[in-house]
Amino acid sequence: MDWDCQFRGACFDGSDMSAVLHPVSPAIQIQDLRVDYGKFVAVDDLTISVPAGEIFGLVGPNGAGKTSTFKVLATLMEPTYGEVRLAGIEIFEQPEAARRVMAYMPDLAPVPSDLKVWEFLDCFAEAHELGNAAQRRERIEECLDLVSLADKNNVFCKTLSRGQTQRLVLAKTLLHRPKVLILDEPASGMDPMSRRQLRLALRNLAADGATVIVSSHILSELSEMCTSICVMNRGKLLAAGSVEEVRRVLGRTERILTLGVVERVDEAVGWLQGREHVAEVRLAGERIAFSFAGSARDQAQLVSDLVQEAFLIHALEEQRSTFEEILLDVSGSNAAAAPNLPLS
Ligand SMILES: Nc1ncnc2c1ncn2[C@@H]1O[C@H](COP(=O)(O)OP(=O)(O)OP(=O)(O)O)[C@@H](O)[C@H]1O
Ligand SMILES: [Mg+2]
Repeated sequence: MDWDCQFRGACFDGSDMSAVLHPVSPAIQIQDLRVDYGKFVAVDDLTISVPAGEIFGLVGPNGAGKTSTFKVLATLMEPTYGEVRLAGIEIFEQPEAARRVMAYMPDLAPVPSDLKVWEFLDCFAEAHELGNAAQRRERIEECLDLVSLADKNNVFCKTLSRGQTQRLVLAKTLLHRPKVLILDEPASGMDPMSRRQLRLALRNLAADGATVIVSSHILSELSEMCTSICVMNRGKLLAAGSVEEVRRVLGRTERILTLGVVERVDEAVGWLQGREHVAEVRLAGERIAFSFAGSARDQAQLVSDLVQEAFLIHALEEQRSTFEEILLDVSGSNAAAAPNLPLS
């Protein structure tokens, strides 16, 4: 694995974030990460590599280890072992430098209620040394604009709704133009319009070269928003890649086919039973439904064979499992297969 990366100029001074990654260096590199809480293994040998400009989704049920992983990336927690590089920086060797190139949005971010929105953001703008008061103000307004909260600039944080508070925290994470954004369930509490805005904002950030790692329980949202995903369960990575690749790796390629046949329906049912890749053949009204686990070529062959047998096919429909169903399946079926073993 190539950890090499080159940086241009004074990229760690907080103002110039012009880190230039070597083409082969991923923006997020997690290697053999393990997190134990006492004898409990929360993250088990996790290795992930995310190229710059990706929106990478971390999907998994409650307790999968998503927040534990994010806390390590955000330098808030030391892992039991493992290596992490963000924008080429080894985060345990150079935590300060790492904090300048990344931003972390926790799942339950506290917001002080006795500050106005701009005052809250200005605390962080000052901490990040984003220039004089006027320059900071300008950046704050830009970030509030990005999350559609410009009109709340001067109100007290405590008056914001839950979804607006989430958007405020997102604005906070954007202030210092991070190269890597670590967002733990950022869409929680957001209405559909805000979620859409979040999706667009993340796409724009990624188009500008930022890399986003984001977790969510809203699986369909993640599959729409992310360029690639990884599925975790009980601390272990089950699959990573595009949604289609993950679907394939998890072996959930079977789909339900529904066949409309003119005449000889019972005969067609009998013919299908026992065919390779075919299971659960049943009559659904006037149609024949069955599960099919073969490739597209196998499916074409099946249709061709039906025609050869002189069955008169007038309809063929295909229904694939939704991504959500696949993950529900994975959470359930792997509970026994991949237990979190206590350390001896
Ligand atoms: N401080 C802690 N002490 C002991 N166990 C912990 C601690 N924090 C987390 N855990 C355990 O580690 C496992 C992973 O927790 P984590 O919060 O990382 O999961 P998650 O994937 O973020 O879940 P969720 O979807 O509910 O947010 C859980 O079983 C949890 O009970
Ligand atoms: Mg969590």
